[in-house]
This record gives sequence, C-alpha cells and structure tokens, in this order.
Amino acid sequence: MDMSTIHVCGGNTLCGEVDIQGSKNAALPVMAASLLIKGKTVLKNCPVITDVEHMQKLLEAVGCMITKSGRTMEIDASDICATSFPTEHANVMRSSVVLIGALLGRMGEISICYPGGCVIGKRPIDFHLDILGQMGVEFSEENGCIAARAGKSENRKVMLPFPSVGATENAILYAAASGCAYQISGCAREPEIIELCEFLNRSGARIAGAGTSVITIIGVKKLSEICYRIMPDRIVAGTYLLAGVMTRGLVVLNQAPCDYLSGVFEVLGEMGADLAIAKDWVCLNGENANRSVRYIKTEVYPGFPTDMQSMFMAALSISQGCSILEETIFENRFQVVDELKKMGADIHVIGRRAMVCGVKKLRGTVVEAKELRGGAALLLAGLSADGDTYIKNDVFIRRGYENIVRDLKLLGAKIEEE
Ligand code: UD1
Repeated sequence: MDMSTIHVCGGNTLCGEVDIQGSKNAALPVMAASLLIKGKTVLKNCPVITDVEHMQKLLEAVGCMITKSGRTMEIDASDICATSFPTEHANVMRSSVVLIGALLGRMGEISICYPGGCVIGKRPIDFHLDILGQMGVEFSEENGCIAARAGKSENRKVMLPFPSVGATENAILYAAASGCAYQISGCAREPEIIELCEFLNRSGARIAGAGTSVITIIGVKKLSEICYRIMPDRIVAGTYLLAGVMTRGLVVLNQAPCDYLSGVFEVLGEMGADLAIAKDWVCLNGENANRSVRYIKTEVYPGFPTDMQSMFMAALSISQGCSILEETIFENRFQVVDELKKMGADIHVIGRRAMVCGVKKLRGTVVEAKELRGGAALLLAGLSADGDTYIKNDVFIRRGYENIVRDLKLLGAKIEEE
C-alpha cells in the first residue's frame, strides 16, 4: 500500500477558478471500445489517473500499442492477439469489466479468470453475464476461469435485470460491431453511456436511444479510425463545487458538464448555495450554503449520484440541522462515516440510511481514505476543519482525480502532498 499522505490546513475560504478534467467513467469504456476498431483511436482530454493507467496496461496486454502525451492517448488496436488477460492483472480487471464485451466483440471468444475463481464477490458481474447470455454468448467454466464464446442468438430483444452502468456498456460493446441487430431494454441512462454511444457512432456504429432505457443497436461489420474528445467529469465538478460550499467560498468551474449536474445543483440550492449556471461553466457562491437537506437518496441517473453521496455527507456534517442520506446503489458506501466521526462529525448509520446532524466545526486529525470518493470527502472535510488534517492512503484518490491537490491550491486551499 502506498502510504503517501495529503496534509490540509483547514479554514481558508476558497476563491478562484479551476478547469474540470476529463471523465474517468467515460474514458474507461471508450478505451475499451477502441478494441473494436482495427486501427488507431486518438483520445483527447483523457484524464491522467491511475484507473486509466490500469486500463492502458490491460489493453497493452492483449496487443494494443499505446502512446501517451499528456492528456492525448493514441491506441492502435490493429493487431489483437490474446483472448484473455494475464492473471497478474486480474485484480484491476474488476474495475475494467467492460473489457469483456469489447474483447468478445473483437475476438469472438475470451476467457475470464479471477483470483480463486471467485466471480460473484463484492462487486458481482452477474448482470453482465446475464445480458451477454441473452445475446447469445455461451459460458462454460474451466479451471476456475470462465470461457465465453460469441454464439448465434435468436433473441433480438433483450432486457437488463437492473440498469447497471457497466452491464449496459458491456452489452453495447458486444453488439456494436457484431453484424446483428439488438434492442436492449432496461438500460442505464448515465451520461457516460451516451458518451460511449456517441464515440461508437462517430466511428461508424449504428446505435439509437442512448440516454433512454431502450437502446437499439444495428451491429455493423467494421468501425473506422477516430479522434475523440472525452467529456468533462461530473463527479470531479461536484467535488470542487462542494469545496466552495464547505468553505463558504466562491468557486468557478470551467469546462464543466453542467447539463449532467442538475441533480447535484438541486441539492446545492437546497443547502443555500447561490449558483450561476452556463452551458460549460458554473459559478457557486457558498456564503450562505449552511442549510441541512431533509432527505437525499442515491439513485440511478438522472437521480442523485451515489458517487457524490459521501462528499455531501461531509458537507452536511457542518450544516445547520439534521439530514438523512439513503444509499440504494452500493451497500458499502458508508465507510467514510467512522473517519468523519474522528473529525467530530455527528452521524448515525442505520442500515442503508445515515442521519447527519450538523456540528459547528469539524476538527483536524489523522484519517484514512478507504476508497476513492470517501477519500475526496475527507479532503473536503479537512478544508473546513479547525487545524490540520492528514489523509492517509491518497492512492485511492489518485484513482479518479488527476491532481486534486493542485486544483484545490488553485482555489486557495492550504494543502500539500507529503
Ligand atoms: C459505475 C461507475 C461507478 C458508479 C456506478 C453507479 C464506472 C467505471 N463506474 O459502476 O463510479 O458509482 O456506476 O453509478 O463507470 N451489480 C450487481 N451485479 C452486476 C453488476 C452490478 O449486483 O453484475 C450491482 C452493484 O453491486 C451495485 C449496483 O448493481 O450495487 C450498480 O452497479 P453498476 O451500475 O453496475 O455500477 P458500475 O458499472 O460497477
């Protein structure tokens, strides 16, 4: 475990402008989609984060030639040789599950191995296997690995059991260059799905309905080389808006995906933040953003995003009054609670609900990031706390933020990487 620590000296009111990086959750499936193109894909605005590095390694492991220069990535998938990912990458494979649909689409067969052969674990992939199965993929188990083979399916109409983001992406990736037509219902409607379909369509795919729950794909035989700019990251944008809220500051975000932030804007408004929203920038005045909210429930898009839940928890822990947060997507997303409590937060968890009662101030102490968004939440808490906060394990934060320390410094925070 990387033990580097972020040191935040709390109490500064943030004021300034920052550019929003490219989207992690858009970049990863688009990188996987490059496997379907027998030639070059150029991605612009590709975020420089460790999750993208992991995906790069997996693509290279199956034969892609990749060059990177800053935020531009060139992927040459002319010669794909392998139909499986080397086991040393099995751990990171979990977060790159969309490679299943993409590599199956390209090669017609793949084998998926997990350490200990455990597939149905903490982050199950049953929905992925279910939808691909409906589309004709045949699975068999061999020595703890799953062998998958593209088959003929009479099912042209298939349905997801739950609007899983990754499973929707896997189905799209599998179908896009299959030469067959599919209508997929029960799809996730996240902006990152729209982005993936936009990328594929510009490369010659025929996909309609992205952003709705029914997506129709007329599979083509061939996709062409393409240069594509990745959309800005809506969760990073939400993070920096909350930095403004927590320090009662004034924050301007440039290159912000405002169209996709309405659920977040709504709750910020409820908290008393003053927002000026343009197409691709937003200005937040957090001077009076000190109100609690009655109830927030995480939901599939367009509902309130689970990825923002722990950061709002941090912000609400210094608001006036009590708020209820309900987590309905991932049951283990309250790991940050104990760390926030160390900083003096008043939070009670009962099952999937947390009651957050605002305290006057949090106090700085040593805390530990346990996952990506919870880590960012602790950093936000540190910005507003009395004294110094040390956030250990910033390796989790670097999975999704290019350089959160640099960005918050730009906004006037006293923050260092140690
Ligand atoms: C994606 C995002 C993640 C975000 C999540 C929900 C990426 C890389 N990650 O994750 O940041 O928090 O959407 O917006 O885009 N599930 C199953 N079986 C499956 C698949 C999922 O039970 O086969 C469950 C999950 O455990 C979870 C829920 O379904 O409880 C939603 O998961 P899903 O929408 O698939 O999220 P991801 O695609 O993994």
